[in-house]
Amino acid sequence: MDIKVFGHEFFYDITSMSMLFFPGEKVNFVNRSSNETHIISRLENKNNALKSITKIRFNGKWYLSQKTAGLDCDKKNLVKQTFYKACSKATGITSQWGILTGIRPMSVYERHRKAKDDLKSIMKTEYFLSDEKVSLLSDISAIQHNIINADAADVSVYVSIPFCPGKCSYCSFISVSAVNADALLQKYIEYLCKEIYSKSELIRRYGLNVKSLYIGGGTPGILNENQISTLMRILDSCFDLGAVEEVSFELGRPETITQKKLELLKAFNVDRICINVQTTNDDILSQINRNHTSDDYFNAVETAEKYGFKSINTDLIAGLPHETVDSFCRSVDDVINTGVNNITVHTLAIKRASALRDCRDNYNPKNFDVVKMLDYAYNKIRAENYVPYYIYRQKNCISNGENIGFCKPDSICKYNVYMMEDVHSVIACGSGASSKIIKNGRVSRVINVKYPIEYVKEYDKIVKNTETINRMLKADFCDE
Ligand SMILES: C[S@@+](CC[C@H](N)C(=O)[O-])C[C@H]1O[C@@H](n2cnc3c(N)ncnc32)[C@H](O)[C@@H]1O
Ligand code: SF4
Repeated sequence: MDIKVFGHEFFYDITSMSMLFFPGEKVNFVNRSSNETHIISRLENKNNALKSITKIRFNGKWYLSQKTAGLDCDKKNLVKQTFYKACSKATGITSQWGILTGIRPMSVYERHRKAKDDLKSIMKTEYFLSDEKVSLLSDISAIQHNIINADAADVSVYVSIPFCPGKCSYCSFISVSAVNADALLQKYIEYLCKEIYSKSELIRRYGLNVKSLYIGGGTPGILNENQISTLMRILDSCFDLGAVEEVSFELGRPETITQKKLELLKAFNVDRICINVQTTNDDILSQINRNHTSDDYFNAVETAEKYGFKSINTDLIAGLPHETVDSFCRSVDDVINTGVNNITVHTLAIKRASALRDCRDNYNPKNFDVVKMLDYAYNKIRAENYVPYYIYRQKNCISNGENIGFCKPDSICKYNVYMMEDVHSVIACGSGASSKIIKNGRVSRVINVKYPIEYVKEYDKIVKNTETINRMLKADFCDE
């Protein structure tokens, strides 16, 4: 796909929008095009007004969209609006998310809510959102209000366990197979405890208040009982887990779960655990390289329910290869029937770094099966009294779908909201972990080395990151 741009530099936004209309096609920004299908995007300043014009040549015909607005308008939106309209006219493709690509929908919604704009009208006319998506954002916003209470001294803590029992075909998260990696995993835990301790010293030094703590992966359930005990002991001595409002442990794959591990987590005041299945279709579980069955999942949830955790979450993915609408709907029903009070519905995103990267057939904006799967899931889950409480979108999601966390009343995962909406700083430990220091709405990131092997061999880089965070917090919390 060749695109010629004049008068603006919104290359990233235009690339994300083209993926919507021309999935899988590589975008080339060119001065002149020899391709039959190409787009011209122009922004011009004329007579004290801005005019955006998009022309697209498609299947031998030209399609045009243009719009003029005042000089103080949002230029990026103006360019995206005519781009969307011209491409939509040419291809017949529309998106329920309109021009909201590559952006967190809640942050746009909240910005307009705080400005006291007419939300329904602005989301539809400026961003082209469907009524359904506006009402979804409105529901999520109402729920998030109850827990968002920004205090400069609040932080959350994230602990990364980037190890898995194997690699699922759709996944691009950086994680190491734990098979034959006992020594590395053991060493990783040792260094991780050091980092947790030094980061907790900063939290104490600056009088910060730990609102939530999340141990995520990868698959933290891969840790053996001794390693869980070591990790939870250091976390408890550093943060007093009983006093932290919410502690989550993403066990992950059901085959890693034992009664002893659940007992330990309960004893250390863990509130929320995740036992994920993605689909309850056993053939698909095996094809996507998850070496567990749906029965392993049902048994793990049944066992975990006896321990009285405040929340149990299960992740599902709509759109896995060979999944039919019927089999996905059955998965939704199966998960609801277990009684878990949190369900997170993901839409398959085709990740370049995953084994499914060449699965272009699935990556189709007109994949109406996925639309039907999501419709069924959202309606059924809501009918069972779960409410949507957080949302995020990823690139290359089939059918331009989204990921939504649902919970029963009083079982919201606060960490997910704090982290997704940048409510307060997150101090992150472990390889691949990214700390976010937030001051007056500005986010600065401090990113740890990616892989566990680098983490244990080059721990001095982690020490430097801790020093960087110390300097940032000192500037924010010490009046000198
Ligand atoms: C960081 S993963 C950790 C989950 C845990 N290791 C497990 O597999 O149970 C969190 C979730 O992201 C979702 N996920 C991962 N890759 C995805 C993709 N390519 N598209 C959609 N969802 C994806 C899955 O639902 C997964 O459970
Ligand atoms: S989905 Fe979970 S278990 Fe599978 S590779 Fe990704 S992080 Fe690991």
